[in-house]
Amino acid sequence: MKAVIPAAGYGTRFLPASKTVPKEMLPVGSKPAIQLIVEEAIAAGADEVVIVTSKDKPSLRAHFDVDELWHNRLKNKPEIDAEMVRLEELSKKISWAYQYEQKGLGHAVLQAEPFVRGEKDPVLVLLGDALVSGKKLASVEMAEISRKYGNASVVGLERVPLEKVSRYGIVSGEKVEEGVFKLGSLVEKPSIEEAPSDMAIAGRYLLDPEIFTLLASQETGHGGEIQLTDSIQRLLSSRSVYGYVYPGKRHDIGNPQGYFETLCAFNNHC
Ligand code: G1P
Repeated sequence: MKAVIPAAGYGTRFLPASKTVPKEMLPVGSKPAIQLIVEEAIAAGADEVVIVTSKDKPSLRAHFDVDELWHNRLKNKPEIDAEMVRLEELSKKISWAYQYEQKGLGHAVLQAEPFVRGEKDPVLVLLGDALVSGKKLASVEMAEISRKYGNASVVGLERVPLEKVSRYGIVSGEKVEEGVFKLGSLVEKPSIEEAPSDMAIAGRYLLDPEIFTLLASQETGHGGEIQLTDSIQRLLSSRSVYGYVYPGKRHDIGNPQGYFETLCAFNNHC
């Protein structure tokens, strides 16, 4: 399975901190958020993880670059060196793509297309500013559901209060089993009146590779950007797409409040 992590956004909600420290590099314990997300992708079965980033964020790539120097420095600290060896193993599975213009999430995901060309299985998309806490990793569960429904696309969902629907992609669907819905429609950031339900897209997707063909011809949508949600809506005309309200909790590390909540959830310190 291939995975794509869009991580190219400016991080404006976290300025001025994010001016030189990309939000994906914020530490959650001893690891930056991006490393936890790469680990989630690999746990779900990814053999290659494409990180789509921007040239303004060289620290993401530098983080995964472990050389002999580090092993030499850590000669007398084998437990810490073991962490660096693990990081080195992760980095072998990572490829880098760049988004040169900020044209939206759909456009960011599209930049990974050369790496997933010819893929038959659904591609895992994990948003680089969303961490999910809980007993089981959301992507691992979604991969299981996808297999159960014949390698179908699965979108991770969470229920949100109605007054917040305009911040998310919102879906409608028919329940097929506890927590699993066959999707009927998706709308990016609707008003309360337009929202088809309270089920919001929550940072994790497993998408049929056909999505890349659709993204390549996707017209701009909400906010004048190329929206992944709009291409998934179009995918519905040729493929079944399921939604899964995963039991874990999504944390948005893209703003200070969400970041503090993430630290509490991952370190049990609060
Ligand atoms: C993106 C997606 C949206 C989704 C949200 C949270 O929006 O476009 O559909 O609900 O992530 O996963 P953003 O937060 O980048 O504006």
